[in-house]
Formats: sequence, structure tokens, C-alpha cells
Amino acid sequence: MTQDWLPLPGTPVEELDTPAIVIDLDVAEANIAKMQEFASEAGISVRPHTKTNKSPYWAWKQLNAGAIGICCAKVGEAEQMAAAGIPEILIPNQVVTSRKIKRLMSVAGTTETIIAVDSEQNVSDLSDAATSHGVELGVLIEINVGMDRCGVEPDEADAIATKIAKAPGLRFDGLMGYEGHTVAARDFEERKTEALRAMDKLLSAASAVRKAGVPVNIVSAAGTGTYNISGAVEGVTEIQPGSYIFMDGDYLEVFEEFQPAMTVLTTVISRTADRGVLDCGLKSVSIDRGVPYAVGIDGVEVGAPSEEHTKVKLSGVAKDLRVGDNVSLRMMHGDTTINLHDYYFCVRDGKLETVAPIMGRGKFR
Ligand SMILES: Cc1ncc(COP(=O)(O)O)c(C=O)c1O
Repeated sequence: MTQDWLPLPGTPVEELDTPAIVIDLDVAEANIAKMQEFASEAGISVRPHTKTNKSPYWAWKQLNAGAIGICCAKVGEAEQMAAAGIPEILIPNQVVTSRKIKRLMSVAGTTETIIAVDSEQNVSDLSDAATSHGVELGVLIEINVGMDRCGVEPDEADAIATKIAKAPGLRFDGLMGYEGHTVAARDFEERKTEALRAMDKLLSAASAVRKAGVPVNIVSAAGTGTYNISGAVEGVTEIQPGSYIFMDGDYLEVFEEFQPAMTVLTTVISRTADRGVLDCGLKSVSIDRGVPYAVGIDGVEVGAPSEEHTKVKLSGVAKDLRVGDNVSLRMMHGDTTINLHDYYFCVRDGKLETVAPIMGRGKFR
């Protein structure tokens, strides 16, 4: 497919076609460097969750900065990353059907692959598949550290670890526990208390597994909001944050330790006395955590988007906006908006540097 309609490097931001995800490269790169610097100082590893960026372009930037590998939420995302040569992928999620397990084995045949499990049946199925495909699959037990999503209870870990350690085709690597119920707590002390409680559960499971005579190499945890809480706990070996790379409106309410790098550039397509209409809607911006807000201009009150339109109420200087002018919006939830777009338009000093495809968009199978 020819893509020569894409803008060339050097194109000024205001000449980009809209709606478009615009990333400030300096900001995103600084976020990547900051997370890596924290981990290096703490003596742990970063395995960034690419469910946020869904793009080998960013995964490579994270790896080049020092990450030991990446996480992918789904086999479909992992297939895209493996095809781009990413050398190590953890799927911190369960893959349970024979159709998907087969695809997982193909990924494992091309790149170092680790999967999370939380049932003995799944261990048997993965072992059978790994043996018949002639691959070795790394396995982490997912521990329910309080989120009550997936994961076994801490006192169930030793039995399942023993089973994995004996299972042909599988390599027991360790444990993971995602404290997702704590990562967005606005109050730091609350976040800390709950995250530490979660890490206690994870580490108690790790010590039970070791007592059962099974070595634990990986103890993986944390999201952006708990990177420096869980990541500072003795015994946690790596963190798997995702949102820090771009930050979004929701996470900026948690903390501003990482800077916002992403906006959706839109265009005013209609104007009346105190109203404008932007050319974005539910097909290009997500509102699951609230409607986006305008940045770089005061007096733009964003209303609820419909499919392809977003009405804005204008006051003050914003009344000077004309049809054809740009308005940049910050999403309250970046990941779900990224999943709607084909490309990142990556900008430095107001000019396009590169267009990066969002290979993992829609790859939720
Ligand atoms: C298993 C797992 N690890 C890590 C993360 C990263 O979270 P965040 O985007 O808060 O950094 C998520 C987020 O959904 C997750 O599900």
C-alpha cells in the first residue's frame, strides 16, 4: 500500500491533517529516560507495558534506553512486536484457548516469550503445546495482590510453581502481581499503603515458592503510579509501567512526575457566536475517563463528542478561533485513544520528525 500521502519530515505541526495524535518527542524521550534512571538507581529492571504505546517504534526507544524487554497485553500485540524483532516479550495475562495458544507458540518460536498463568489446567495446556511445537516458554505465576482480577491467591503459588517446574516445554521464571487497584489513588500515602500491602502478598508467595525448593528469578509488579513504591521494595526485581511514556489527563491528576507528551490535534470546522465544532469525535478520541480538555488556549470548554464532531463552548481569547484553526486536546485516557489511530505524528520543536505506525491498534485478540 502506498503511503505517500503521509506528511514529510519537517512539516510544521499546524499543517498536519487532523484529527492526529501528536507526540512531543523531547517529552516522551525524557519520560523514558527518567523511568530508566529510577530503575537503574534502585537496582531493578524496567519491562515497559506497551499496551499504552502499541508500537515497535516506542518499544525500541524503551529498549535502547535500557529496558530488558517489553510487556504486551494480548497475543495480537505480541505478534506485531515479535515481527518487529523485539527480542523479549512478557504477556502478563492469561492465554487459554487452543487457537490463541497456537499463536503464542509461533511468537515463542521467534522471540523469547514469557506468559502469566493462574490455573493448573492452563499449565498443562501450555506444556503440551510447547512440547509439540518444540519451544521453551517462560512462565510467571500471576498472584492476586488485591486487585481481584486475575491471579491465584498467595498460598496457592507453591503448588502451581512445583507443577510448572516439572512441566516439559515450560521454564518457571517467577511471579508477577499487578497492583492495579492502587496505581491511580490520588493521595500518595494511600497509594503507598495499598501498594506495599500488595507487595507483601507478592513477596509472601515468592518466599513460599522458594521454600518449596523452586528458584524464583523474576518478581514483576507496578504500574506508572506505583513505580517508585513497589519498585523500591526489596525483592521486587522489575517494574512494568506503561502510561508514563505519554501520561494522560487521568494520570496527571495522580502526579506530575512524568510530563504529558501526547495531544490530539483537531481543527475547528464550524463557528457560531460562542460555539465551535472540532473535527474529532468518538471515532478519534476516547471518553471512558472523561472528555478531553484543550491545551495551549484558554476559554475552550469541551463538550461530549458525537461520532465525528465535538462541540466546544468558547469564551475570552478562544472566541478569536476561526474555521480552519487548530485546537490541541489532551485525553483523559491515552491508551484507548491510541487504539483508535493508525499513526503517531512525532514532533520536535514544532516540526514533524517521523510518522510512526501504531501496529498494535485493534490487536486485542
Ligand atoms: C498487568 C499490567 N501491568 C502493568 C500495567 C501498567 O499500568 P500503567 O499504565 O498504570 O503504567 C498494566 C495496566 O493496565 C497492567 O494491566
